Amino acid sequence: MFKFRYIQGRKLLFEPFSMALYYIADDKNIKNNLVTIEKKFRIKLSELHRKNFLAKKNKQIGISNLKGKPETIILHKFKADEKFTVDYFRNHLAGLIRDIKDDKIQTLHILIPDMDLVKKFFDDEEYYYRSFLEGLSLGNYTFDKYKKEKEKSRNLSVFIFAKNELPLKSAIKKNNAVIEGMFFTKDLQNEPGSALRPFELANRVKETLTKFGLKVTVFDEKEIKKRNMGGLLAVGQGSSAKPRFIVIEYKPKNVKSSSKKIALVGKGVTFDTGGYCVKPWQGMSEMKADMSGAALVAGTMLAAAKANFPVEILGVIPAAENMINGEAMRPGDVVKTASGKTIEVGHTDAEGRMILADALDYASKQKPDEIIDFATLTGACVVALGLNAAGLFTKNDKLADALYKIGMKTNDRVWRLPMWDEYHKDNESKIADVNNDGGRWGGAIVAAKFLENFVDKKIPWAHIDIAGPAIANELTNYNKTYMTGFGVRLMFEYLSNLEKDERNK
Ligand code: BES
Ligand code: MN
Ligand code: ZN
Repeated sequence: MFKFRYIQGRKLLFEPFSMALYYIADDKNIKNNLVTIEKKFRIKLSELHRKNFLAKKNKQIGISNLKGKPETIILHKFKADEKFTVDYFRNHLAGLIRDIKDDKIQTLHILIPDMDLVKKFFDDEEYYYRSFLEGLSLGNYTFDKYKKEKEKSRNLSVFIFAKNELPLKSAIKKNNAVIEGMFFTKDLQNEPGSALRPFELANRVKETLTKFGLKVTVFDEKEIKKRNMGGLLAVGQGSSAKPRFIVIEYKPKNVKSSSKKIALVGKGVTFDTGGYCVKPWQGMSEMKADMSGAALVAGTMLAAAKANFPVEILGVIPAAENMINGEAMRPGDVVKTASGKTIEVGHTDAEGRMILADALDYASKQKPDEIIDFATLTGACVVALGLNAAGLFTKNDKLADALYKIGMKTNDRVWRLPMWDEYHKDNESKIADVNNDGGRWGGAIVAAKFLENFVDKKIPWAHIDIAGPAIANELTNYNKTYMTGFGVRLMFEYLSNLEKDERNK
C-alpha cells in the first residue's frame, strides 16, 4: 500500500529519484500553460518535446534525464469533452503505476489539476481527489501469493499537490479505508476454490474483521440444520465441505437512537460447478469468484469500521460449495427454507437464490431499516447489461435513486431493471411454493422476484446482481488481470452518505 503525503501551496519541493506527473488541460491556454510548467519545474522544453506534446494524437510525453529534481516529468493532456468521464484520472493512474512497475524511482509527485477544469463531472472536491488516490492504489494491487517470483507491488512514497489541504487530507484517510476493504474483497475473490471453501471463507472473514473490532459469528452445519435453513443445506450437501452461515456485526462507538441499521447480504458460493445440471467447462474457473457478493460485504464492513461510520451494519453471508457427489441435490427435489416456504429445485445451477432465500429471511428477522443484497446471481444479467454495470432491482424509488447516483459518482455503476409482479408467474411450481428455475426470458428479473418471496415486505430492499462487473475484465486498467472488488466503493459511499443524513436530522 502506498503512503500518501500531501503538499499544499505553490512551492514544489522534490525528492531524489523522483518522478513528477503533471496534468494539463488541452484547451486554448495549453501553450501558455507549457510556459508555466517550464517555470515551475525550472526546465526548458526542447522544440521536439513541445511539438510532440502539442501533436493532436499524443496524450502524454515523458521528459527524462533531467539534471535537477525531479529526474523525470510526465506531462499528460486531458480534455474535458464528451469522452471524458469521472473515471478518467483513476483509470490513467492505475495504468501509469503498472507501466512504471520496474522503474527505479522512489518517489512520485502528482499535481492534481484544479477541479474547476472538470467541474461538469465532479462536484465533491474530496471525492475528486479520491479518484486519483484510488487509481494509484488499485494499479498497485497484485495477487502473487502463488507465484514463485513475486510481482512486488511498488513501495513508493507519493506526494500529492492539490489546491485545498482539508479535502485532500480527508480524501487520503478515506482512501486508506476503502482500499483496505477493496484489497480484502479482491484477495478473497482471487483465491482458488480449493483454498477458500465455506469454512475457510468463514475463518478468513472472522480472523480479519475481528481485528477491526467487528463481531463475527459463524453457524456450522449443526446450527444451520437447527435453524431449518434448508436452501443453504441443499446447495452445500454435494460437497464434503459443509456450508457455513456468517453473521458480521458493526456497531459505531456511540450508537445514537437515530442511527440507522443497514443489513448487507452477500452470496457466498465458494465454487459453482452448477451441480448435476453441470456447467460447460468454458469459464467455469471464474466460478471461484461466485462468492464476490460475500467478499464485497466483508470488504465494505472492514472499510466502514476503519472509517468509523456512525451507522449500524449487519453483514449476512450464506456460504456453500455447489459440487456433485452421491449426496448432491437432484433436479426435482423439494427443500424447505427457514421461512417455511418450500423450493422445488428446477435447476441445480440456480443455487444462489436458494442460499439467499435463507439469508434474506434471517436478515429480515433482525428488523433492519434496509436490506441490500449482492450476488453474482445470473448470466442473464450479464447478457442484459454487459460488464459495465450491475443490475439493480428494487421497488423502492428512493433507494434506487440513491444507489444509481452513487454508482455514477464512484464508477461502480448500477442500472435499474423492472420488478413488476407479473414476473412472479415464472417462479411458480406445481408441487412447491416456488421453483428456482424461472426459464430463459428475463432471467435476472425472475431471479430477483424469486428473492422477493423471502424478504419482509415492510423493509426497503434492493437486490444488486454483480455477475458482470465482479469478474476481471478489460474495460479499465484497474480491473484487468484480477477480480474487481466491485461494489465496495459503491457501498462505502452509500454508507457515508447515510452518515451525512444523520447529521442533517
Ligand atoms: N453463478 C452463476 C451466475 C454467473 C454467471 C455468475 C456468470 C458470474 C458470471 C449462477 O449461479 C448461475 O449459474 N445462474 C444460472 C441460473 C439459471 C440456471 C436459471 C444462469 O445464469 O445461467
Ligand atoms: Mn449456478
Ligand atoms: Zn452461482
